[in-house]
Amino acid sequence: MTNTLQKLQDLEPSREEFQAAVLAGLRQAEKSLPCKFFYDAEGSRLFDRICELPEYYPTRTECRILREYAGGIAAGIGPGARLVEFGSGAGVKIRLLLSALKKPTAYVPVDISRLHLLAAASSLAKDFPHLAIAPICADYTLPFELPPHAGTQPDNTVGFFPGSTIGNFTPQEARAFLESARRLLGPGSSMVVGVDLRKDEAVLQRAYDDAAGVTAAFNLNLLRRINRELMGTFKLDQFVHRARWNDALGRMEMHLVSRCAQTVEIGRERFAFRKDEAIHTENSHKYTIAQFQDLAREAGYAPQNVWTDPDNLFSVHLVKDATPAA
Ligand code: TRP
Repeated sequence: MTNTLQKLQDLEPSREEFQAAVLAGLRQAEKSLPCKFFYDAEGSRLFDRICELPEYYPTRTECRILREYAGGIAAGIGPGARLVEFGSGAGVKIRLLLSALKKPTAYVPVDISRLHLLAAASSLAKDFPHLAIAPICADYTLPFELPPHAGTQPDNTVGFFPGSTIGNFTPQEARAFLESARRLLGPGSSMVVGVDLRKDEAVLQRAYDDAAGVTAAFNLNLLRRINRELMGTFKLDQFVHRARWNDALGRMEMHLVSRCAQTVEIGRERFAFRKDEAIHTENSHKYTIAQFQDLAREAGYAPQNVWTDPDNLFSVHLVKDATPAA
């Protein structure tokens, strides 16, 4: 058997980038922290647990859609695809797609969490021995390049962006991301995007503030990471996780709220918190099918097909490059 797992392309954000982003976020009048830094080793592990929570319906529902309609999705993609996954995580969903695809040639998982990425890539290499796997450790919101050797037929390149991670961008950022993905993937490429749908507020509330407190631990882990990597002095029991629905903007918002008036140091810089002051850590936008299709059109894609579950909780879209060949 040939070794199809290729050398890691490593663009993991440095400590300096983490520090600059954290300080910039906390210096603002409305404090915020960038959500991509949730995913250190512990954060990635906690996120995998979120995905298994009874209240967190997105993962389970998306997997059900991928399993149920794998044939239709694979037919829409066609043979010989080279797949590029943005935020590949544990690599569960790609298996559902890969098993249904006709002769996929290559798989390029892109993830910000290096150890998680390598573990998932080598496990996948064992199960798909004929697939060239070329992992890239990177923040996929920044420019990177596809490895030229990953696949011999780059004419059918398909981006895979599951988990409604698209919802963690503002609509404007989502449009920009889809556009730059379209350029990266090349003329005639497609994207398979998982998008969480608008629904009853109570269902959302439970999904983002679960009874077992795993989501709270995940949110708070960002402060633990700052303490460990940036010499921070956050007292984790002095902040609480809060999730709430913003109806005007159609999104769930995650915050860490200070229980009391307190000062926190990060390296040499001090940050004052009022009692009940919040750090905004994440947004999760919810779309209707039509809203997302409009967004995709604005990014130069033509919607091809969409699959949902019987309760209309979640949607999986196939969209194709609609810009004229250069
Ligand atoms: N993409 C996931 C979502 O928006 C990320 C996520 C799930 C998340 N639960 C969270 C992010 C809690 C921050 C806090 O559904």
